[in-house]
Amino acid sequence: MANSPSGDSVTDRLVRVLETFTPTRTVQTATEIGRRAGLPSSTAHRVVGELVDAGLLDRDAEGRIRVGVRLWELATRSSLPLRVRQAALPAMERVQARVREHTQLAILEQDEALFLERLSSPEAGANITRVAGRLPLHASSSGLVLLAFADAALQERVLSRPLRRLSPRTPTDPAAVRRKLAEVRRLGHAIAPGYIEEVSTGVAVPVRDDSGRAAAALSVVLPVDAPPGPALEELHRAARDVERALAGHDRRK
Ligand code: PHB
Repeated sequence: MANSPSGDSVTDRLVRVLETFTPTRTVQTATEIGRRAGLPSSTAHRVVGELVDAGLLDRDAEGRIRVGVRLWELATRSSLPLRVRQAALPAMERVQARVREHTQLAILEQDEALFLERLSSPEAGANITRVAGRLPLHASSSGLVLLAFADAALQERVLSRPLRRLSPRTPTDPAAVRRKLAEVRRLGHAIAPGYIEEVSTGVAVPVRDDSGRAAAALSVVLPVDAPPGPALEELHRAARDVERALAGHDRRK
């Protein structure tokens, strides 16, 4: 790819522009994008204009920029997250209907838990997860199951970095997280009481592939004082259903 005078490639600049969009920052002006991407204003306006012309970004009547529907279309087409989400949705709907609390699906992505889906009934309590949002592996129930059933090298890499505290109850001592991961492997599920927010407990189970690694995590967010047993029973049953659906899908391919 051709390089700019500052030495970064066209691809670098496109990625920097696209990465200024986050789960909570979904609308920006071209000037804000340029500042956040570290690009000169004229370059930012040109790159944003080209992306709008290509349909990868959308510009509304007030000139504000959003991620384009065309980008969603291309990204979603036959991607791994789509396959996992389609295999999981029927089981997630059953969990949600029975437990009536937030039900989520996450996969491991760049050492974080990336949420592919979230089903919520209006009366369910607090929950900070967003579809296409991320949470740290050590701090969330989904992250803990993804980490517990991942390669040892990945566990070591995550535990060698500073572990961010999200609430007073987030485990940030690597030895404590190591003990928690051993417990998750022994029990086959994770309970994270107050780790993300003091008001809620995340409970999660792995959806395992043929190698025993977690292909995904299914989780429910409960009020902190709710008993986790009934939700875990539903989640374990759902995980078996999703494992079967994924295996069947692979055979049909
Ligand atoms: C969790 O998975 O542990 C979790 C996620 C979102 C919350 C609370 C807990 O808001």
